[in-house]
Amino acid sequence: MDARTHDDFTRRLTAAATETEALLAELLGDAPLPGEIARPPRLLAAMRHAVLGGGKRLRPFLVVESAALFGAARKGALLTGAALECLHCYSLVHDDLPSMDNDDLRRGRPTVHKAYDDATAILAGDSLLTLAFDILARPEVHSDPLVRSTLVLELARASGLGGMAGGQMLDLAAEGRFEARRAQSQDEILTLQAMKTGALLRFACRAGAILGRADDKTLAALDTFGAVIGKAFQIADDLLDVEGDTATLGKAAGKDAAAGKATLVSILGIDGAHKRLDGLIVEGEAALAPFGAKADILRAAARFIAARKT
Ligand code: IPE
Ligand code: IPE
Ligand code: MG
Ligand code: MG
Ligand code: MG
Repeated sequence: MDARTHDDFTRRLTAAATETEALLAELLGDAPLPGEIARPPRLLAAMRHAVLGGGKRLRPFLVVESAALFGAARKGALLTGAALECLHCYSLVHDDLPSMDNDDLRRGRPTVHKAYDDATAILAGDSLLTLAFDILARPEVHSDPLVRSTLVLELARASGLGGMAGGQMLDLAAEGRFEARRAQSQDEILTLQAMKTGALLRFACRAGAILGRADDKTLAALDTFGAVIGKAFQIADDLLDVEGDTATLGKAAGKDAAAGKATLVSILGIDGAHKRLDGLIVEGEAALAPFGAKADILRAAARFIAARKT
């Protein structure tokens, strides 16, 4: 990546993150919306703790930049990104619960169940999940109701039984939580990771194309890119668990091996996983060929995902 593309990437990631933060703060305001009866302060505070003041905001950035390929309105893309970030943050709150990964630290701060309590964390997660769909249904997302309902349907599919939540289930099952543990094949790991992590990143890239009313072929190119960076993202996460440190990561390192987690690092080794990551970056860049230089920012994003330190 040349220095200019790198600077441009950093600037645009920061801009998307700043705008997303402001939008999320507004969405989690004190005043009840029409149809809401009241916003219980403890629940609202826990939701704000989960969502505000941290995170790379990579998913909203991917929505914004994939939408920009089609000249789609930035406001709608930011709202879609904010909806996805709410869903992502809900997944983190529940992932950290004592009955799941039992983590005390997230984004350099106490996890929601530590700062509040388990019941509040469960309800904050529930409310963030619901808020995601509330946001997507709003007319400001797109003037065409069919575009909005497509986003709702796609995010539902990406996040539920056959997507993120299903992948979390397979992840826990692979730890031997429900029956005797058995070795996972590489295909099984790829499937569970495509679900638990890949599905939301893939949605981020598809969402831009949906907002921009891309044709099927163009949508398929972004879909492939999303699937590839989804794979890369979880390999990078699993490598960071081994190679990173808790202070830099802002979350506990060294947990996966201790939990006997099924990861590609456990199968391919550290060097093998790095090589796989390099191959995926090439694959991701190739998927963007139809967009030419217009997609340089997304190419830089793929490299950032592989090289990230947090
Ligand atoms: C962490 O996601 C959870 C995984 C899907 C591996 P991120 O690394 O995007 O977390 P934040 O949002 O930047 O904190
Ligand atoms: C979780 O994967 C992915 C989610 C759906 C939240 P991990 O359990 O590896 O994520 P971290 O390492 O806690 O962020
Ligand atoms: Mg987990
Ligand atoms: Mg975890
Ligand atoms: Mg992890």
